[in-house]
Amino acid sequence: MRIDIISVVPDLLHSPLSHSIMKRAQEKGLLEVNIINLRDYAINNHGQVDDYAFGGEAGMVLMIEPIDNCIQDLKKQRHYDEVIYTSPDGQTLNQGMANQLSMKENLIILCGHYKGVDERIREHLITKEISIGDYVLSGGELAAAVITDCIGRLIPGVLNDESSALFDSFQDNLLSHPVYTRPADYNGWKVPEVLYSGHQANIKKWKEDQALQRTQSRRPDLLK
Ligand code: ADE
Repeated sequence: MRIDIISVVPDLLHSPLSHSIMKRAQEKGLLEVNIINLRDYAINNHGQVDDYAFGGEAGMVLMIEPIDNCIQDLKKQRHYDEVIYTSPDGQTLNQGMANQLSMKENLIILCGHYKGVDERIREHLITKEISIGDYVLSGGELAAAVITDCIGRLIPGVLNDESSALFDSFQDNLLSHPVYTRPADYNGWKVPEVLYSGHQANIKKWKEDQALQRTQSRRPDLLK
């Protein structure tokens, strides 16, 4: 899969996407992340990509021309399954949406910024708007990093069997069971005995029960 991310603050994206699982996914050639500085498409040599809003509102608006030129440049090179815009007004990201997006070949993510983007970009160029939650970030970069991370780790081969996404919270609409490591007793704080009993069927049942109990107490909405 290839994800092209268009941003006016590309530095905000480099670090979150170049460590740990995202780094391995790229090294294995399973995920290609290409971060594009929108200022490379500025309308003048002052690097201008935004302007005042018509109607006298506070805040700058990203202009159509640099974004259109950037997206058209990308589209000349390959077909894109979705052109995503990160915005608090979008559809809220969840595991189901991430699963679907992880099966796509090529995605563009346009990061929102300042007051937003000229509405005509959303009408004519964007195919999907995604929010990462009901709160407002300073820009769409962190949202784009979250979306890329949560899609990228679902690409087959990115995770090894041990950390397989199949066991993640939310995959069955259930939260994960608790996990423990050594020591089995830390100053009287004990690991549930069943986990080191060696009895695989009991361990499996314990994990399932815990996942269900945890979901019932913390996120009963997921069970509806
Ligand atoms: N940009 C600002 N806030 C956002 C959010 N909650 N989700 C996605 N993009 C955003």
